[in-house]
Formats: sequence, C-alpha cells, structure tokens
Amino acid sequence: MTLLSVQDLAVQAGALSLVDGVSLDVAPGEVVALVGESGSGKSLTALSIMGLLAEGLTVTGGRVDYDGTDLTALPEDRLRALRGADLAMIFQEPVSSLNPLVPVGRQVAESLVVHDRASEAEAAEAAIEMLRRVGIPEPARRATQLPTELSGGMCQRVMIAAALISRPRLLIADEPTTALDVTIQAQILTLMADLAADAGTAVLLITHDMGVVAELAGRVCVMYGGRVVEQGPVDPLFAAPRHPYTRMLLRTIPRLDEPTKGELFAIRGNVPSPKNWPEGCRFRTRCDRASDACTARPALIKGDHRVACFHPVEDPE
Ligand SMILES: Nc1ncnc2c1ncn2[C@@H]1O[C@H](COP(=O)(O)OP(=O)(O)OP(=O)(O)O)[C@@H](O)[C@H]1O
Ligand SMILES: [Mg+2]
Repeated sequence: MTLLSVQDLAVQAGALSLVDGVSLDVAPGEVVALVGESGSGKSLTALSIMGLLAEGLTVTGGRVDYDGTDLTALPEDRLRALRGADLAMIFQEPVSSLNPLVPVGRQVAESLVVHDRASEAEAAEAAIEMLRRVGIPEPARRATQLPTELSGGMCQRVMIAAALISRPRLLIADEPTTALDVTIQAQILTLMADLAADAGTAVLLITHDMGVVAELAGRVCVMYGGRVVEQGPVDPLFAAPRHPYTRMLLRTIPRLDEPTKGELFAIRGNVPSPKNWPEGCRFRTRCDRASDACTARPALIKGDHRVACFHPVEDPE
C-alpha cells in the first residue's frame, strides 16, 4: 500500500527542464531516502509534492497521488488545508521559513490550533513537550522567545518540532539536520524514524549522508540531472549499486570499516547546469562506461531494484 505515489513528475522553469520523469512511492511507516549530488533536483521534487514551487517554476507533467488524490490538480485552498496537518515539510532553509515576529512556541503549536486539534492551552503545552523532544533545553522559556533570539541550529529544531507536532501522515524532510551537531542529528533522525514507525508516518528523507540512509531508510531513490537513475531497497542497492553514478556516489563515502587508501574518491567534474545537460543519458559526460548508445535516453527498467542505464554494472566488485 502506498500513501504517496509520484509518477513521471516534470518541472520546468519556462522551457528549461529541471526535473524530468521522476517516479517514487512512499508507504505509511516507511522511510524513503532521496539522494544525489547538489543540483540533481531533490528539493524541487519535494517542493512539487507539497505544491510549494517558487514563482516561475511549473509542474509540466506527471502526477502526485496522495492517498488517491492528485495533488497537482488540487485547488490551492484544499492543498493548504492538507499542509501543516496531513502533509508536513522540513525545509532546507529553516530560518527563513519561521515568522520573525511570533514566539517560537506559538509557531510550533500553530498547526494544532489552526486545524482545531487542540485548545490553545493544550497546544502550548504540546509545543513545549515537542521542543523538549527535539533537544531544546529549557523549552518552556525558549517557547516564549522570538526566532532571532535563538541560534540557527535551535531554529532548525523549532522547524522540526513544528513539522512533527501534528503527527503528519506524510513528512518530507529536506536535509533536516545539516546545521546541527552530530549528537542532536542522531537524536532528531531517531525521533523521525520512531514517529514513522509508531504513527505510521510516511517519510521522504532528503540527505547527503549515506550513513543516515543505511541506518534509517528502507528504500532509496538516486537522482542525477533531474532524473531518477536508480532506485530500490537500501541494502541490496548499497551492496551492489548498478548505475555507474550510484557506484561513484557510494565510493565517495569514507568507510569506517576499511582503512582509507590515500585520497578520497571524487566524481569527475561537476553536475552540469540544467541548460547544459547532454542529450540522452544526462550522466554520460562524466561516466567511464558511456558509449554511443548513451546518446539515447535510458528507460528505468521495471522491478524492485530499478536502474536507468545502457551499461549497468552487473555484479558487485
Ligand atoms: N527558481 C529556479 N529557477 C531556475 N532554476 C532553478 C530554480 N530553482 C532551482 N533551480 C535549478 O534546478 C536544479 C535542481 O535544484 P534543486 O534545488 O532541486 O537541487 P537539489 O538536488 O535539492 O540540490 P542541493 O543538494 O544543493 O539542495 C538546480 O540546477 C537549480 O539550480
Ligand atoms: Mg536541495
């Protein structure tokens, strides 16, 4: 059973294709990780699901089915009613998404009050409890403060508390813990995973940290150049990545169980900007397996572990 089913999503800025043919499913209680280098289209995919694309960006194709309803076709007022209650997102830029004029406790409590899930007093108490759970010391005092009185890391935790308090059915977390120290990161990611398991929340987790993916996610979706290049269950995919890009991406991660052999492996070149993506496979200009065949677009072959490549790696090394 899936709660969220993104099918063939396309996003453009004018005529420029930024996200192209992205499909992924998330079931209740499942954590699906979305990974890929900077600029691969992870945030745009997340924002499209929430209906929060910036001005100038448009969903030009595909569907976002949430519990059987296509969110891309939903009027804004109905979408707004879903957001903050059933759908929650933790943004990559947390500070700018808090209201500078409202005490943080009230901002955390807001979704409970707005959606009539609790009285003001109950919501205020729940907010303090949630602030405590995301690791904010003296939560009752902090709740009365404005975002400007808190550090960046503290504001990020406030955002996380605001997203989790309504026990959303779908949580999209875009690099939720990047600015936080390692202990707090672990605490918050564990809290998210516990929530997913207990409340049956479906979680789409965007992260650069493959250790976090291995630990928390059941399935992973690898993006490159606005497309999905590989997806499948985390364990087999990490053990035997089939797309040359995924293989390189995983090799860039230092392994604690192996002594480092000199330099850390880095992927040749950078992700080209969207206007410079090559025809056909968008990774081919950086790929050591590319051939003439790769000037055509590789389809994502069907199955549990999917790969979009004309020359996939067949066996683990
Ligand atoms: N408003 C916009 N107008 C034009 N291009 C945009 C806009 N927003 C994003 N892009 C481009 O779309 C591509 C995908 O952006 P996106 O933010 O989804 O990447 P990402 O995978 O989230 O990267 P990161 O890991 O750095 O957060 C990038 O090349 C980005 O420059
Ligand atoms: Mg991003």
